[in-house]
Amino acid sequence: MQNFIYYAPTEVVFGRDAESQAASMICKYGGTKVLLHYGGQSAVKSGLLARVEACLDAAGIAYVKLGGVRPNPRLSLVREGIEICRREGIDFLLAVGGGSVIDSCKAISSGCFYEGDVWTLYEHKDHATKYLPIGCVLTIPAAGSEMSGGSVITNDEHEQWLKKDYGADQLRCRFALMNPELTFTLPAWQTACGITDMIMHTLERYFSKDDDMEITDAIAEALIRSCMSEGRKVMENPRDYVARANIMWAGSLAHNDLTGCGTTGDWATHNIEHELSAKFDVSHGAGLAAVWGSWARYTRSENLPRFERFARNVMGVDTAGMSELEASEAGICAMEAFFRSLGMPTDIHSLIGREVLDEELEDMADKCTNSCTTTVGALKVLGKDDIVEIYRMAR
Ligand code: NZQ
Ligand code: ZN
Repeated sequence: MQNFIYYAPTEVVFGRDAESQAASMICKYGGTKVLLHYGGQSAVKSGLLARVEACLDAAGIAYVKLGGVRPNPRLSLVREGIEICRREGIDFLLAVGGGSVIDSCKAISSGCFYEGDVWTLYEHKDHATKYLPIGCVLTIPAAGSEMSGGSVITNDEHEQWLKKDYGADQLRCRFALMNPELTFTLPAWQTACGITDMIMHTLERYFSKDDDMEITDAIAEALIRSCMSEGRKVMENPRDYVARANIMWAGSLAHNDLTGCGTTGDWATHNIEHELSAKFDVSHGAGLAAVWGSWARYTRSENLPRFERFARNVMGVDTAGMSELEASEAGICAMEAFFRSLGMPTDIHSLIGREVLDEELEDMADKCTNSCTTTVGALKVLGKDDIVEIYRMAR
């Protein structure tokens, strides 16, 4: 077991009506003037945004609104947010939305006091020292950004389409207001992408070379099994409160590092996927489903017993009499079948609706390794050629 620090400081308010505590929580964490940041339409249509505004009005908290965050949140809107925060003297950011809105807030938070260009941080060339505090009203369980310290931003300037991450403990939300009823309006596709993403956050930590972490493994295995069983229920009945609640809490636990205690984590699938969602503007969860099986088959020889354990303990495969290779294949196939049962693609053609070109694979692998200067993954360390091969297997 690796040494670890477990740090999950976000105050979670969970359950019906949680969003009504927005004003009191902002006050508790010292906010006096707020940037209210949200996405395209959903929070406006559902009346959630109006309710949050009424809550801030009633408490006499001043705010400025900035909507329009798109999935795969864009650097250009982040710059606009930074500009507003500086001009208006904003001292607290409230995200009303999902991973994209929270990540956009995190980028604004990082850039507000930073003297250089905020993208420098996402290029991992520098670290900010001062941040604006953030809280959120979560509307989609998926990315886990409500408890994570990371953010992912797409650079849409000059047609670059680079998707990069930046993280800091100061970026962890001070509070997360999580009302499962707010997720009743999610389209089936977004629900499915979210379930896939949270399963993947657990798998990224599960498939490592560290074997000696029984508690962490047991939590991870139970979490994935629950995502699958509760996931089937919400896909069947989107207004099943208990199933929605289980999925919502699973999304946070899958990415607040609880399932990473003592493991090194891999994260290759995420890096490989980020290039797909940057290039083709597809949903992150769907992109993960499209490449995970290929990643697993390419890397499994590094730790076959773990893939056998996954097949048995998570996917319920009776592995007796199977070789480790056969068991691993059965487990991977079962996971892919579950993704497909949610309506997720398990290859790139199904993801983007056409054959991906060789030069596109090369370009993505090149960006993924910063022009062959970096690698991804830990179970098996992957360079550009490995990544091209995984894209080919997934095409
Ligand atoms: O924009 P609106 O109209 O609000 O619609 C959104 C959006 O189109 C819709 N939606 C959200 N809540 C809804 C709703 N529709 C109806 N009812 C509701 N209650 O759902 C769509 C997707 O929203 P988005 O925020 O993009 O989804 P998600 O939470 O999956 O976030 C994805 C982003 O997070 C990044 C991904 O790369 C991607 O950019 N990630 C962030 C991580 C982190 N910060 O720790 C980790 C993840 O691995 C991931 O990379
Ligand atoms: Zn993810």
